[in-house]
Amino acid sequence: MGHYLPDRVVTNFDLEKVMDTSDQWIKERTGISERRFFDPEKDTVANMAARASNLALKQSGIDIKDILVVGAEIQSSALEMNDRGRSVSVIFADGAGALILQATDDSDNQGILSTHLHADGRFAEELYVRDPGSSRKERLTKEMIDDVGIRAHMNGNVVFKHAVVKFQEVIHEALEANQLKIDDIDLLIPHQANLRINQFVQKQLGLGDDQVFNNIMHCGNTTAASIPIAMCEAWDEGRLKPDDLLCIAAFGSGFTWASALIKF
Ligand SMILES: CC(C)(COP(=O)(O)OP(=O)(O)OC[C@H]1O[C@@H](n2cnc3c(N)ncnc32)[C@H](O)[C@@H]1OP(=O)(O)O)[C@@H](O)C(=O)NCCC(=O)NCCS
Repeated sequence: MGHYLPDRVVTNFDLEKVMDTSDQWIKERTGISERRFFDPEKDTVANMAARASNLALKQSGIDIKDILVVGAEIQSSALEMNDRGRSVSVIFADGAGALILQATDDSDNQGILSTHLHADGRFAEELYVRDPGSSRKERLTKEMIDDVGIRAHMNGNVVFKHAVVKFQEVIHEALEANQLKIDDIDLLIPHQANLRINQFVQKQLGLGDDQVFNNIMHCGNTTAASIPIAMCEAWDEGRLKPDDLLCIAAFGSGFTWASALIKF
């Protein structure tokens, strides 16, 4: 595994300077203290992904030709860094994580035991970027820009309420598919969308603090990069170990939600 976080640290206090928010509000509602934003002089999604991938390749000792899964995101440039955008822009951040996967002959006892993926498009517009759109006569107009259609729109309350339910459902689904129970999970790494969501899910499932890993406090929500980055950090900190049963679970726009059980 390998991950890359841009050098530029953006604290809640930095956000206080550009929008009507506070360190206390952000910490209480999301658990985030700081996050990383890309440096336009240095970082692109592709080269952030490449940096994470090179670390993973170096650790695994395998050749670039053999497999690679990468999540890399620059969200910060899509955020509206002012009062109007504050409920969205305090959450999202940039980063990249990469994993090497390979086949195993011992698939009953090792590797990805199962994956479970769902979507419900009825909620597509609760968390989305509306513009530009290829199905319109004009892809991008001044009105779309002024009307913030080019920015991420998020109905935070609706996302929160669905996330706490779907996380639990999809984790139970994974356990049942493998005749396992909650106590069998050595580590749950949930998507880092909001610490309060993860803490609520942890409590509902009856998991101990040692069974759940969060890093949103210093990474923010890096969307598709969040689980690979968290897996890397959990490994580096000794929280994820060989032979552990790892559960990863995510909820996001679409709405989409998913889980996987991995014998590490
Ligand atoms: C976004 C989120 C933190 C907002 O928290 P919330 O408790 O639902 O807050 P609300 O949206 O109800 O807003 C409460 C108040 O805080 C204000 N507020 C919103 N953003 C603010 C900010 N950054 N700083 C200060 N105040 C803010 C609102 O304007 C509102 O004020 P009002 O009571 O005067 O109307 C929360 O809904 C959330 O995290 N949802 C899930 C989002 C998520 O997981 N997204 C990613 C999925 S991949």
